[in-house]
Amino acid sequence: MIQIQGRDGSISSSPAVSLLNLLQRNSVPIQTICGGRAQCGRCLIRVLKGADKMNKKNQREIIRLQALNAEEDMRLACQSYARGDIEIEIINPGNRADGGTAG
Ligand code: FES
Repeated sequence: MIQIQGRDGSISSSPAVSLLNLLQRNSVPIQTICGGRAQCGRCLIRVLKGADKMNKKNQREIIRLQALNAEEDMRLACQSYARGDIEIEIINPGNRADGGTAG
């Protein structure tokens, strides 16, 4: 299960579906511009619990996180998969595709 800081309840995790897709499927607001290609960095999350239940960072994610000066416990939701219980914080809630402005 995935718990999201500041939200009641939890959503089911799947090791085959990225956290970005899981959040979107469950109507949890999270920003994306690149659509999950590790390019925009808007899907940044902080992993509060269960980092050991997640996949290792791939090279594209590492490069993007470095460019963002992200902290060690941060991940790109679009590159992250969970195979157990985790808790996350969404850094940029809200969906840019719904008319957000750049910034
Ligand atoms: S959605 Fe753009 S980097 Fe994850």
